[in-house]
Amino acid sequence: MRTQVGIIGAGPAGLLLSQLLALQGIESVVLERHDRAYIEQRVRAGVLEHGSAQTLREAGVGARMDELGMAHGGTELRFMRRRHRIDFEQLTGRGITVYGQQEIVKDLLAARIGAGGDIRFEVQGVELAGLDTDRPTCRFVAAGEQHQLECDVVVGADGFHGVSRGYLPNPTVYERHYPFAWLGILAEAPPSSHELIYARHEDGFALHSMRTPHIIRMYLQVRPDEDLAQWSDERIWTELHTRLSTDDGFKLTEGPLLDKGITPMRSFVCTPMQHGRLFLAGDAAHIVPPTGAKGMNLAMADIRVLAHALGGYYADGRTDLLAAYTETALHRVWRAMHFSWWMTTMLHVDPDEDEFGHQLALSQLEYVASSRAMEASLAENYTGLPYSQGW
Ligand code: FAD
Ligand code: DHB
Repeated sequence: MRTQVGIIGAGPAGLLLSQLLALQGIESVVLERHDRAYIEQRVRAGVLEHGSAQTLREAGVGARMDELGMAHGGTELRFMRRRHRIDFEQLTGRGITVYGQQEIVKDLLAARIGAGGDIRFEVQGVELAGLDTDRPTCRFVAAGEQHQLECDVVVGADGFHGVSRGYLPNPTVYERHYPFAWLGILAEAPPSSHELIYARHEDGFALHSMRTPHIIRMYLQVRPDEDLAQWSDERIWTELHTRLSTDDGFKLTEGPLLDKGITPMRSFVCTPMQHGRLFLAGDAAHIVPPTGAKGMNLAMADIRVLAHALGGYYADGRTDLLAAYTETALHRVWRAMHFSWWMTTMLHVDPDEDEFGHQLALSQLEYVASSRAMEASLAENYTGLPYSQGW
């Protein structure tokens, strides 16, 4: 079996790449470990930067997002029982779209499969070979049979726990762990605010988000080793009410829980993001803590760079864009690393910090809430830096 680009992983990164390549007349095969139902149901990110939403439209998969996604022109920071709105539209002229990651995965899968794209689900034991040659291969097992896929280029879009990163011979890793995790819930209740709320409370961080006018997505800061079994629905709601309470009487509407889980938090960058004919994209190469809503957006930004570089390679035989992939992508990766770390440390209560540290975080929040320059900086990073800078 032979294709031009072999893609490992059918997450947002792998599927978007397959779609952007198809639009340039470049063939790909996507190898995914799970079945279709599983990847279409997995609840994960929900915020699209202005440019990510635009990328999906340009890729021809924006119709459902434009119909069902929720356009937000700002967000709220909440601390010391007070609210402060950051007006993205006014500060940057751009907003965000709230639309679940699994909906994007559904839209991309429908587009690829509808156009006859080759996506193999439930593949096992992916192994790469010949990455230093111009005929790299992916070996894998599907339905109990061994297969070999010959390609020009292999893209590892297989997430943080994938196999591709292991084929970089001598990567440098930059990493930071945080002394907390997020407990996330999905509940059948109308949003209690028309925009997202990022709250710092002395008991820890809380986030109010949403998926539809009838479904909310909420997160609570918990310990990194937290046992989900210790969190009854009642305890979760009590904590959410406490952490989101305001002096002006904010009311949170409850509803039946549809999903709950714990997400660990870390910052991680692996460089270079390429070796020979292997290129990594998205979570396979880097992870951010979710507080800045950057993970999926960064995965999509990598893919924009890579799809453009592969386009140049196939159309004009250019190798310079592919050679520069890591360097080009890392500009945005490090900006997102810093923004996510900054949002995380400002909004979470670090159990290892002393009172001095807590006061610094509060001072930072007050500064953001009172300085137009700081508000603009948050808004610019949150809605996403323009691609026009080359990355
Ligand atoms: P993934 O979405 O991880 O996709 C990788 C794909 O590769 C998967 O489908 C996987 O099954 C497949 N795969 C893995 N290994 C193999 C293999 N060996 N062979 C074949 N296929 C393989 N970001 C936010 O911005 N906000 C959030 O609220 C948020 N919540 C998250 C919650 C969880 C539990 C997790 C894990 C992540 C969350 N993220 C969040 C991060 C965001 O979801 C990711 O940044 C985004 O999914 C990255 O996309 P990706 O395509 O690079 O990787
Ligand atoms: C959501 C997730 C985030 O990480 C974030 O910063 C905002 C919203 C969400 O899942 O809706």
